[in-house]
Amino acid sequence: MALLDRAIARVLPAVPKPLVRALASPYIAGPTLEDAIAVVRRLNGEGKLATIDVLGEEITNDGEAQEIARAYHRVLARVESEGLEANISVKLTGLGLGLDYALCQENLRALVEDASARGNFVRIDMEDSSTTDDTLRLYRELRAAGHANLGVVLQARLRRTLADAQGLDNVRICKGIYLEPPEIAYDDAEQTRESFRATLRALLDQGSYVGIATHDELLIEDALAQIPGRGLAPTEYEFQMLLGVRSARGDELVRDGHRLRVYVPFGTYWYEYSVRRLQENPKIAGYVAADTVRRLARR
Ligand code: FDA
Repeated sequence: MALLDRAIARVLPAVPKPLVRALASPYIAGPTLEDAIAVVRRLNGEGKLATIDVLGEEITNDGEAQEIARAYHRVLARVESEGLEANISVKLTGLGLGLDYALCQENLRALVEDASARGNFVRIDMEDSSTTDDTLRLYRELRAAGHANLGVVLQARLRRTLADAQGLDNVRICKGIYLEPPEIAYDDAEQTRESFRATLRALLDQGSYVGIATHDELLIEDALAQIPGRGLAPTEYEFQMLLGVRSARGDELVRDGHRLRVYVPFGTYWYEYSVRRLQENPKIAGYVAADTVRRLARR
């Protein structure tokens, strides 16, 4: 990212919310489940799978966690009744992890059972490093209890990730969005890439199902080079991308016969997710500047 882009990315929290909302609109399906369903239908029509995220952060009580869980049950029901190709991605803090481990476990177990009854699947997103141990523990506990329709996420940015990969059956590997201290995380882009590549290899070596979640061309190319030598069928791995990011590259992957799953967030708590996405957009400075010029010209 250029210097100006980095500077703008840092001050994004000071940018007016309506502007953040407008700039972030390509990354979010919309406020309602109907919006998410319409986007998933379009993606399925393009040969892409989806994973649906109910946006919700800063849970402060059990009721809010249960409300998010109920929203996910509604998603599972709609996906089934519409015959769509979409699973769900959940954040454990949204299901109550920060309040009470047992509450979160219960909410997650109920979702995994509901998904299983509908032939569907639950992916646990990975949040900041304060949640890594509990997230992996919850994943392992439920898998050990026989719930095979559950997957987790590893973040290449964390130094512990290659070791964590051992024995995990179903993993999304990504770089990791949360800023972490250098004692536990790489702050160098190339080291993060190397960790991504090494973890992907380790996962494929042990026969895990891997969701390769990146828009980084170097990492996509590396993953593509791994597939033929291992004799993997297109159903034995998938690429994953975020809604609104590099969709033309996603089209190419689909055309070349790979599975691609797109992360589709929806809901009214759009702000935090939008800021994270905009901070990663290499063209953000240009967009903010162009919008500012437009508004000044209108005055
Ligand atoms: P990188 O950020 O280097 O981007 C590579 C290129 O992609 C850029 O140069 C640009 O061209 C394009 N690009 C990337 N972001 C863009 C944007 N917002 N707008 C426009 N262009 C953009 N993280 C986490 O901590 N926990 C999680 O559970 C998940 N889950 C998850 C699911 C899926 C399906 C994806 C794709 C990603 C995640 N992530 C995540 C986020 C992930 O950790 C990471 O922050 C982003 O994917 C960006 O990293 P890249 O590997 O794409 O590389």
